[in-house]
Amino acid sequence: MRALVRSCCIMACVAMGCGVPELEEAAAPEVATAEQELGGGDLLLKLKAKRLFEKETFGGNGRTCATCHNDKDGALSPAEAQARFQKNPHDPLFRRIDSDDGVGTSYTKLLNDATIRVTIPLPSNWSLAGSTARSVTMRRGVSSTLNVPSLDTIFMADGRNVGLESQALGAVNAHYQPGRQPTANELGLIASHQQTFSFFSSPKLRQYANGGPEPVLPPGHTQSEKRGRLWFVRSAAGICSHCHAGPMLNETSEFLIPPPGVIVPPGSRFFSAFVSEFNKANAPVLTFNVTTPTGTVVVQSPDPGRALITGELGDVNAFRIPTLWGSAKTGPWFHDNSARTLQDMAQHYSDYFTIVLGTPLTAQQQADIVAYLKLLD
Ligand code: HEC
Ligand code: HEC
Repeated sequence: MRALVRSCCIMACVAMGCGVPELEEAAAPEVATAEQELGGGDLLLKLKAKRLFEKETFGGNGRTCATCHNDKDGALSPAEAQARFQKNPHDPLFRRIDSDDGVGTSYTKLLNDATIRVTIPLPSNWSLAGSTARSVTMRRGVSSTLNVPSLDTIFMADGRNVGLESQALGAVNAHYQPGRQPTANELGLIASHQQTFSFFSSPKLRQYANGGPEPVLPPGHTQSEKRGRLWFVRSAAGICSHCHAGPMLNETSEFLIPPPGVIVPPGSRFFSAFVSEFNKANAPVLTFNVTTPTGTVVVQSPDPGRALITGELGDVNAFRIPTLWGSAKTGPWFHDNSARTLQDMAQHYSDYFTIVLGTPLTAQQQADIVAYLKLLD
């Protein structure tokens, strides 16, 4: 509080010039010390951090973090991409690195799916069939910057970034075609900006990030919401809770029944929900040759996810289990943006359970799950 009052005085002083010259001179040394000691300069630093996230291009193609992570849900939808293209086809979102062919001829995929090109180096024992390339490029949806920067430690759908600074450095180099590299100080500020007030889906999550109580599953009001809740209650019957457990609903629980031979302890973060397997986004299927001690294994997938980070065949098509807090607002869903609506998401899980459990979800079960998901703000 003291720091805040002081910084307000400093700001007022800066804005109004403080009027009386003697006063300005006398106050100056004390003000500087207070700024340093009490973080009175916080406000200025916060403004600098905000500017780095929203305006700084690092001498690149005009993009900033805010180009893809909007100030509403921290993500990007096809509707937003289309509206921006209509308004200004030269909007920095539309840069040739994210065009259909990589050279800027058309932007159909970005406009229709809001997916961005993501390039991942290949693990040493992996290669692309018929190619000497040492990296692979796929398209993924923009994950939301709500909640996750404060409440997770691993980032991206495949968990390749540990720490927000390394994530920001990766983002600048992947998307900006930068003319200069961010400094460590700038990366720290970008990280801290994503942990400020507006980067949460609700007060509950903001409080949790600041030492408050863990968010708990809301009881639900309607019969449908109450039935929907049971899918998330940590139990053998709460099937969504098998993978969406823990305070952030983003880790496996002890009830998960893994396929034979796969050991997935409670608290694990990576699993396959069959998004790459079903490939409803209709992405090009890539063929990889993976050298193992017992011979070459061929992997075919539009996006093998975690396996490209670990090199492990057991991780093929596994992705980070995302939090469900606030997720009803951050569609499209899944790493490839294949679920356009929450109904698509429920249909996806119906198809998933048809394979895993032998039965689809009824229309009523799907409606219950969707109704409840909307309460997880
Ligand atoms: C051209 C679009 C684009 C720009 C610009 C961009 N991002 Fe992203 N961001 C993405 C995409 C796509 C993903 C998901 C990629 C993946 O999972 O592999 C992502 C993921 C993230 C995540 C991870 C969220 C999670 O759930 O793990 C964070 C944090 C993030 N971006 C922050 C930033 C910051 C900070 C900047 C600016 C330095 C930035 N992004 C610039 C497209 C963009
Ligand atoms: C076997 C583990 C598993 C189970 C069971 C599971 N999920 Fe998921 N869920 C995941 C993984 C992994 C992802 C990320 C998938 C991807 O993007 O490829 C995910 C993603 C999601 C997303 C998308 C979030 C976003 O921001 O894009 C929603 C919504 C979701 N799950 C809801 C549910 C619901 C509802 C159930 C129960 C009907 C459920 N999940 C059951 C593992 C699971």
